[in-house]
Amino acid sequence: MDATDERVAIVTGASKGLGAAITRRFAAGGIRVVACARSEDKLKEVAKADPDRIFPIPCDVTQSRQVKHLIDETLRRFGRIDILVNNAGLGRFGKVHELSEEDWDQMMAVNLKGAFLACKYAIPHLIRQKGHIVNISSVAGTVTFPGGGGYCASKFGLMALSEVLTQELKPHEVRVSTLCPGSILTEFGDPKPYALKPEQVAETVWQMISAPRGVIYNQIIMRPQVPPEMQK
Ligand SMILES: NC(=O)c1ccc[n+]([C@@H]2O[C@H](COP(=O)([O-])OP(=O)(O)OC[C@H]3O[C@@H](n4cnc5c(N)ncnc54)[C@H](OP(=O)(O)O)[C@@H]3O)[C@@H](O)[C@H]2O)c1
Repeated sequence: MDATDERVAIVTGASKGLGAAITRRFAAGGIRVVACARSEDKLKEVAKADPDRIFPIPCDVTQSRQVKHLIDETLRRFGRIDILVNNAGLGRFGKVHELSEEDWDQMMAVNLKGAFLACKYAIPHLIRQKGHIVNISSVAGTVTFPGGGGYCASKFGLMALSEVLTQELKPHEVRVSTLCPGSILTEFGDPKPYALKPEQVAETVWQMISAPRGVIYNQIIMRPQVPPEMQK
């Protein structure tokens, strides 16, 4: 634990699941974390774990003005942004001809546009700090499966955005990392009993932002180890 860490992070989708676990892990490591999601009450619950280091700011990442406010307010309070974790996301599954247009739009708006907006407003400040962007993609951003038309498209899109960011921010020494987890034990879907624990995935994010000077963990795919009797 490093109680003297001066860095300031923003974590989106921090009200539950993986985002809440990342927020708690960063705070335990001494980082001040601005926790963002739409549910203010849940954010306040998450902040109870470490009120001196976790600061809820409600924000819908699909709304440009709210995301700009999130960045402006973080700067007003702390004067710096070192780390942005684009974690907010949702999955709606169904064959393409059965997937509703609303579900498609929502996945694109949260999983892809939300990350774009947060990057758009945070990058000038991340450049100042030689900071770090971590995008939470998915194994579904690396391989497709039937029923994943909208979700895979949004996460493949996020992979492409991450690659462009890597190239654009290299001259500014801003590191870009993309994490592609398999099934996690959250409310996201219908996780298998062997799914990754959110704390295990959060620990990997911590390792990514703790890489030694001169090292970038550019992409990591992590999967649960499936017990032999449950393998297909
Ligand atoms: N669970 C898995 O198996 C799995 C596997 C691979 C990758 N992932 C990825 O991991 C990330 C986190 O998923 P999770 O499993 O922790 O899901 P989760 O438990 O459902 O949490 C999703 C989070 O996103 C937030 N969110 C949703 N829409 C938002 C919006 N418009 N603006 C701001 N925040 C929003 C939710 O908060 P509010 O509702 O309060 O806004 C919540 O905090 C996602 O990007 C997901 O695609 C998950």
